[in-house]
Amino acid sequence: MQARDRIIVALDVDGEREALKLVEQLSGMIGAYKIGMQLYNSSGPGIVERIQNLGGKVFVDLKFHDIPNTVAAAARVMTRLRCFMFNVHAAGGREMMDRAASAVAEESEKLHTKPPLTLAVTVLTSISQLELEKDMLISGLQLEEVVGRWAAMAKESGINGVVCSPREISIIRQTCGNDFLIVTPGIRPAWAETNDQKRITTPRQALDLGADYMVIGRPITAANDPREAAQKIIDELEE
Ligand code: C5P
Repeated sequence: MQARDRIIVALDVDGEREALKLVEQLSGMIGAYKIGMQLYNSSGPGIVERIQNLGGKVFVDLKFHDIPNTVAAAARVMTRLRCFMFNVHAAGGREMMDRAASAVAEESEKLHTKPPLTLAVTVLTSISQLELEKDMLISGLQLEEVVGRWAAMAKESGINGVVCSPREISIIRQTCGNDFLIVTPGIRPAWAETNDQKRITTPRQALDLGADYMVIGRPITAANDPREAAQKIIDELEE
């Protein structure tokens, strides 16, 4: 994989106009764009097609978590949208992930299209060990163990990879091996502002730790020249 293909730019903006402007500015430079709840809910699913029409691949980050039948139906919709990736919460359970993965396989076979990659979110990186025990009632296990075990459950269910913190890459590589995709946010080049991110790594460190893809938002989207910022990151990855 080329360095540029590893970069997924987070389009954390409200409006379609702003999002499409960034896609046009970065045209041909990076691997994919991530659309989260903010943009998807303000612009609707048409934004996925519009970005794809401009030649961009799309990671739809809506983190599905519902009964298996509902998530399987949403997975079919994602397949029909021809997105590049979408994700579900591992906390939704084995059957939910299994049904999502099967729905993608069935629908893409029916349509003769490339199946989207499916990703699981294990424990949100905003959750601490204390919250895991006190609020989510998962006790007797270290957070990293929960992350590793849920990642393994996702893999066993046919999910292609996980979205995780760079700190969790090694435990996931240990439990799930090298052919399981790892997508990681919290990336900050040495020259960029950290903003509200706390546990950050540089793009190069994330790559060396074993990440396949990295989600990068503000270091590119808030730069005076997003193309130049993306190129600096690509150069750093290629060094
Ligand atoms: O602008 P920045 O590079 O911080 O954007 C990171 C993106 O990754 C945002 O869309 C954010 O919601 C997402 N993300 C994250 N940390 C997580 C999970 C997702 O920063 N643990």
